[in-house]
Amino acid sequence: MQRTILITGGSGFIGSHVVRRFVNRYQDDLILNLDALTYAGNPENLRDVEAAHNYRFIKGDITDDACVNAIFGDFNIDAVIHLAAESHVDRSIMDPMSFIRTNVLGTGVLLNASRTHWKDLSGKRFYHVSTDEVYGSLGETGLFTEDTPYDPRSPYSASKASSDHLVRAYHHTYGLPVVISNCSNNYGSHQFPEKLIPLMINNILHRKPLPVYGQGLNVRDWLWVEDHASAIDTVFHAGKDGETYNIGGFNEWRNIDLVHLLCSIMDRKLARQPGDSASLITYVKDRAGHDQRYAIDATRIERELGWKPSLQFEEGLEKTVDWYLANLEWVEHITSGSYLDYYRDQYVTR
Ligand code: NAD
Ligand code: TYD
Repeated sequence: MQRTILITGGSGFIGSHVVRRFVNRYQDDLILNLDALTYAGNPENLRDVEAAHNYRFIKGDITDDACVNAIFGDFNIDAVIHLAAESHVDRSIMDPMSFIRTNVLGTGVLLNASRTHWKDLSGKRFYHVSTDEVYGSLGETGLFTEDTPYDPRSPYSASKASSDHLVRAYHHTYGLPVVISNCSNNYGSHQFPEKLIPLMINNILHRKPLPVYGQGLNVRDWLWVEDHASAIDTVFHAGKDGETYNIGGFNEWRNIDLVHLLCSIMDRKLARQPGDSASLITYVKDRAGHDQRYAIDATRIERELGWKPSLQFEEGLEKTVDWYLANLEWVEHITSGSYLDYYRDQYVTR
């Protein structure tokens, strides 16, 4: 094996796309996936690579210092790609402490293990995968650049901002070779149906109300998850130590327009009357502290590293809907049990 790469959170939505890409493309590298398998981690996401000669799964918690240090002791780790996190804003409003624990403490544990075990830093890399939500909320105009000051406003974004700061602090203080990327909202296959797009797909399928927060006028900038995985690959292999790269597709949508587009795609795929799914749209109480608009300026990664998104949004959304319709069992497995409790707490009394 040439290199041993520790990917954290590889059984989640984005992590599973990154693990699959690295296992398939870098057959001479050993890919370790460290994941606690929380509600968001699903071994079914990686069935197709779990028997690969260059893949190993390790069940463990990134906040567990002994576990993380044992992994660094057992394997000669060359690089970390850190994706493990609590990732859903609404859950962070209900239970901020688990976000502080995993996202802040967990990142600290990984950084510290890297610092302690990496005596020779040449060829080493700590890649921290983060979000554009650290920059706060935009008004009608403007884009987040790598120089936009941090202004996180939800427990989720504040915990990710804290972890970004820790990563930079380890670079400046200890010389740890780090790189950070901040990406916009992802969509695609294997996304847990608590996030907007898969939640709406699942509800349309079951003719359940489509809960649009507030007036549906908040804006998000959507990127296909495979394009995020290809950007992570690019930054990991070509990004400069100590640098930050914003990742996004210049693809802003108001929530209500996106939900209407999704409804029309679903009507067509399910052979329903036009307007059938849209009649399920229900405006519900707004999210507390709801950020108005996110939009990424992804010029640097394109100019310096040559990365560009590959897919138009409409095409990506069609592919995504097709994947969910072809994988109803995957959805059923994760929307039973604790998902029902979450759904009741989040939506039924809203
Ligand atoms: P996800 O919630 O789908 O998956 C998170 C994964 O981390 C799961 O497999 C879970 O089991 C694992 N995990 C959680 N706590 C853990 C712990 N304490 N120890 C070990 N593993 C743990 O998240 P995602 O949407 O795939 O996001 C992955 C990363 O990308 C996160 O760091 C997130 O902040 C960042 N990000 C996400 C988006 C997005 O749109 N989803 C956009 C930009 C950045
Ligand atoms: P989400 O997928 O939770 O991502 P984030 O909050 O990290 O951007 O939400 C995307 C947008 O959709 C956000 O403005 C909140 C809104 N939203 C709804 O209107 N209804 C929903 O049921 C959900 C989950 C989100």
